[in-house]
Amino acid sequence: MKQFSIDECDIEIGNITSSSLEALLTGPYATAKKIILVDENTHDHCLEYILTSFPGLEEAEVMLLPVGEENKVLEVCFQVWEALSQYAIERKDLVINIGGGVVTDMGGFIASIYKRGLEFVNIPTTLLGMVDAAIGGKTGIDLGPYKNQLGVINHPLKIYIDPIFLQTLPESELISGYAEMLKHALIADKNYWHTLCQLDPVKVLNNNHFAELIAISAGIKSRVVAEDTYEKGVRKTLNFGHTIGHAIEGYCLSIEPVAHGHAVAIGMIAESYLSFKREKITQRELLEITNYLTQIYDHIPLSEEDKNGVLELLVHDKKNADGKILCILLEGIGACTFDNVITHQEAYEALLYVDSVYTSN
Ligand SMILES: NC(=O)c1ccc[n+]([C@@H]2O[C@H](COP(=O)([O-])OP(=O)(O)OC[C@H]3O[C@@H](n4cnc5c(N)ncnc54)[C@H](O)[C@@H]3O)[C@@H](O)[C@H]2O)c1
Repeated sequence: MKQFSIDECDIEIGNITSSSLEALLTGPYATAKKIILVDENTHDHCLEYILTSFPGLEEAEVMLLPVGEENKVLEVCFQVWEALSQYAIERKDLVINIGGGVVTDMGGFIASIYKRGLEFVNIPTTLLGMVDAAIGGKTGIDLGPYKNQLGVINHPLKIYIDPIFLQTLPESELISGYAEMLKHALIADKNYWHTLCQLDPVKVLNNNHFAELIAISAGIKSRVVAEDTYEKGVRKTLNFGHTIGHAIEGYCLSIEPVAHGHAVAIGMIAESYLSFKREKITQRELLEITNYLTQIYDHIPLSEEDKNGVLELLVHDKKNADGKILCILLEGIGACTFDNVITHQEAYEALLYVDSVYTSN
């Protein structure tokens, strides 16, 4: 497999056994204690490959996190911090997060807070993690229904992306991660959008060029982050689809959780509609986006009461300022603007638009 590297965020993409991880473990971290954080699934599907490939991890302490967004909470962090303390982990030691966005978000947060910061490495094992969550230094946990309310921005020492881990990933999770690739294309690269539109996202996994597509997405994310790590400006564009998507995800958490990427995909349909209403994209572009996304992502039916619940959560979005709902809108396909104020009513109409495209199909 071709190897790619993205300097902005210290990312290596390709076969992890050919990466610099071995040198890291046997060089600067040879005498450090290594703590591996996995969840139950990455424990079963990914850990052995890493342990057998890297003898430097023979003595590593493996800590098991419970699976799922509902466990991305302070209580779990406390348990890990206590365990780190029991194992006498010091600042010179190394945390290795092996998992999807839940593990890298929470593991990065745990490492960043403990003793004011341990170095950590991310080995993302979901597509969403590879193209998005593991990159960019946002670490954190949820607070009640509000996602990622507690956290810090702290970059991992290294990010190793190896598509081999996708072989055991459930199809629904693959599709979830694919939403972030589509987002990258929509906000930043029209040609990339047209490439992705030709693809069947499930079959693409068997495509030899998949690592290349991951590298395009990881590259878009890392370049944006490098320009604006603390999200004062252009980094906000990575939130396209997330204003409404996060609210849907947060609302559904207490009823029937939906995958992050699934909620973002619905958010992207809604926010593309708002872009069209503001005459920033044409009707043809709206249809192009809507048609491709609805082929891949199922409807998330929301009753009137549910919609009100989603709109309630919009007000608490971290991206807001002065009580206004802020949203990313497309400027044609492949470009966008941030800090667009949208009203409650507009967000409601966007949710109705989403319903209408699914019921007319
Ligand atoms: N920090 C950021 O910039 C950022 C960006 C986007 C999303 N996120 C966060 O990422 C999280 C979502 O990430 P996710 O979609 O990766 O979810 P996840 O970590 O919950 O993983 C999804 C599921 O796949 C399983 N899994 C992981 N790797 C596997 C593998 N190789 N084989 C089999 N099963 C595997 C997990 O155990 C889990 O059940 C959310 O908490 C979201 O807020 C963070």
